[in-house]
Amino acid sequence: MPHHSSYIALISLTSGALSIAGYIFLKRLLCKSKCEGKKAQQSKIYEEKALLDQYMLFNFAETNDIILSELNQYSDIRNCVLFPRNVALLCRDHCPEIFFSEAPHPRRALDVGCAVGRSCFELSKLFDQVIGIDYSVNFVDHCKKILAEKKIDYECTLEGDLNQKLFYQLDPEVNVDRLSFEVGDACNLREDLGEFDLVLASNLVCRLTEPMKFLNRLKTLVKPRKYVIMSTPFTWGTQYTPKENWIGGFVDENGKEVNGIDGLKTTMGGSFDLCHQTELPMLIRETRRKFQYTICLITIWQRK
Ligand SMILES: C[S@@+](CC[C@H](N)C(=O)[O-])C[C@H]1O[C@@H](n2cnc3c(N)ncnc32)[C@H](O)[C@@H]1O
Repeated sequence: MPHHSSYIALISLTSGALSIAGYIFLKRLLCKSKCEGKKAQQSKIYEEKALLDQYMLFNFAETNDIILSELNQYSDIRNCVLFPRNVALLCRDHCPEIFFSEAPHPRRALDVGCAVGRSCFELSKLFDQVIGIDYSVNFVDHCKKILAEKKIDYECTLEGDLNQKLFYQLDPEVNVDRLSFEVGDACNLREDLGEFDLVLASNLVCRLTEPMKFLNRLKTLVKPRKYVIMSTPFTWGTQYTPKENWIGGFVDENGKEVNGIDGLKTTMGGSFDLCHQTELPMLIRETRRKFQYTICLITIWQRK
């Protein structure tokens, strides 16, 4: 029979364990509601018309429609347009195992965070099946509309209430029947997506509430020896990602600075080899004279 003091020890141990369990439970609950709050906030950001207009211009406009003639002398910025096409086409030069003639078909590509779809349209020229997934209903509706009608009218801000009217005609080399778009959450992708030869995650990871959930899922989404192309400017911000979920951009408990690339290497390194690293400039026009100029870090990973 246990001694009286053992009962006391047992009770305090049990209540200690209970309070730890309670603390963990509460912490998870708080984190969950924080993540859900961020997701709701973020989904609003990507549903706003001004952002949609910017992304339409960024994805589909001709250089002369983006950099209007009065800015022609700034020729360096003219080289930074068409990022969504350029990032997708990196696979031609840096993912040789996909395009080996004996590589089995169908070749499948997934673009997570596809926005209004330009990268997917380019990938449909190289892959037998391309799925584009985005959290924004508005963006995915636009992708589907372009697919169905093969053209779209859109407009972009020039200054205040003044707009530029634009028109995009789908390039005839785009294989419409190879493409599909759906609304989905990168942190909770549907289980039956299958495996891909290429997963493109362009400027997504620092926009996620739980980047680790997405990064951990990649090993089951990519076929052995096939690839992930990741682009990111590592613009961590608490409006997107609660600080405790950042994989870089902080000082760790040992006082060491952790950069996003360190976090990516640690997370991806178990299942992928980093086979190429480079930079790609990106220019998003906000108004006639205001641009976001970003130099994205590109990493290309091959599954072990
Ligand atoms: C910065 S934009 C990048 C768009 C495009 N990939 C590019 O590089 O131009 C981020 C995109 O990710 C989408 N996104 C944000 N959170 C997401 C999530 N949890 N799941 C899927 N897409 C998400 C946004 O709607 C937006 O289209």
